[in-house]
Amino acid sequence: MIEIRGLSKAYRGQDGSQVQALADVDLTVRDNEFLTVLGPSGCGKTTMLKMIAGLIPWDEGSIAIDGVEVDGPGPERAMVFQNFALLPWATVLDNVAFGLEMRGVGKAERHERARELVTTVGLAGFETKRPGELSGGMQQRVGLARALAVQPKVLLMDEPFGAVDEQTRRLLQEELLAIWEHNRVTVVFITHSMEEAVLLGDRVVLMSARPGQISEIVDVPLERPRSSDVGGLERSSEYSEITAHLWERLREMHAEHGRVGGIAS
Ligand SMILES: Nc1ncnc2c1ncn2[C@@H]1O[C@H](COP(=O)(O)OP(=O)(O)OP(=O)(O)O)[C@@H](O)[C@H]1O
Ligand SMILES: [Mg+2]
Repeated sequence: MIEIRGLSKAYRGQDGSQVQALADVDLTVRDNEFLTVLGPSGCGKTTMLKMIAGLIPWDEGSIAIDGVEVDGPGPERAMVFQNFALLPWATVLDNVAFGLEMRGVGKAERHERARELVTTVGLAGFETKRPGELSGGMQQRVGLARALAVQPKVLLMDEPFGAVDEQTRRLLQEELLAIWEHNRVTVVFITHSMEEAVLLGDRVVLMSARPGQISEIVDVPLERPRSSDVGGLERSSEYSEITAHLWERLREMHAEHGRVGGIAS
């Protein structure tokens, strides 16, 4: 369980100005839950995720994972970045094995584990390629395999499919769901897409900007497993009801703030 309590963060700009990125955020992420986070550009989604990852400090509040306060990165958490963040000079296999290497796992063992994961994410045959030789969708598969390699309890995903085309995105969504259905871990998944938030999540956290706060948490009672027919879910009446509700909330936020940047369905 991830418990976020009273989390606040202000960035101080070089010109002396201050941006309140997060203000008094409370959020509990349940064990093995798939939580999606939706909100306008600049509402503090990445900031919150990096804090859970232990990559940046905060001003006030606390984050605890299974009762242990977050104080820097840890082996039980892995992050998948929007821009892939792969090592350009290393092969697919070495990229996937990177986290294991950092943990001192021997070459034979880490390559064996990496090979399995490369197959899991559909990249068998590409083990010796470099990231520059891969498409965006393939690079993101490497990013996902690299995160999974360390067998994290918590998978933190920051708009992982934001940079790929729609067809690839749908395939990656189905693959991620299939992997998660097979081996449930706690997932916090940030997206700009309302559709994606609803199709993947057990709950959707809706954030508002200036300052970044949680506006609402919406349950998604769509049945699982969902990986085999994500497209079919979109045609269900439950899906329409949830997305209609989210649109209403986003419209209200738009009226309150005058602008909802970056939201797309
Ligand atoms: N390193 C930084 N220095 C100063 N301000 C920052 C920094 N990182 C983020 N901010 C500011 O904090 C706020 C929240 O940023 P954050 O990146 O968390 O938003 P986001 O919700 O992830 O946005 P997007 O959807 O565009 O990725 C924004 O106003 C941003 O300008
Ligand atoms: Mg972001």
